[in-house]
Amino acid sequence: MIVSLEGLRLFHLGCATGSLMLFFWRGVRQWQGRPVFHRLGRRIVPDTIDTLLLLSGLAMALRLQQYPFAASWMTIKLILVAVYIVLGFVAFRMDGHMRWRRAAWLGALLVFAGILGIVMAHLTGDF
Ligand code: HEM
Repeated sequence: MIVSLEGLRLFHLGCATGSLMLFFWRGVRQWQGRPVFHRLGRRIVPDTIDTLLLLSGLAMALRLQQYPFAASWMTIKLILVAVYIVLGFVAFRMDGHMRWRRAAWLGALLVFAGILGIVMAHLTGDF
């Protein structure tokens, strides 16, 4: 194998951290009424990191043979990832009332915490 499983894990963790930091920063800016307008911070960097997060997750799932509908933690995680993506879309990409965008952003942060909770439960052997 070209990349070790530990390397993939670290990479995935780094992408998850970067994704959360960018998501948080963009939301704070939007909340303050000065959203990120630059294409690099608004689209290019977050989209690249999120794509790498999904791809590294997919690579690990294949390596570890942890498939949705077979491994329950993975099923729940993927459902939460889908909800996180939809809420992120509502928070930053959809035209809508600021109240809804803020609610979607807060909801997405809670869902992100849920994803981390599922991963922790899995890694500590509870799930
Ligand atoms: C918002 C999206 C995601 C977040 C925040 C996230 C977060 C994490 C974190 C923090 C870990 C633990 C890394 C470590 O070992 O220290 C992890 C592990 C893992 N993730 Fe993700 N992940 C996401 C998306 C995905 C996706 C889409 C997949 C699969 C398609 C996936 C599959 C995996 C697998 C297989 C592991 C390794 C579990 C093990 O070691 O047994 N992740 N994830």
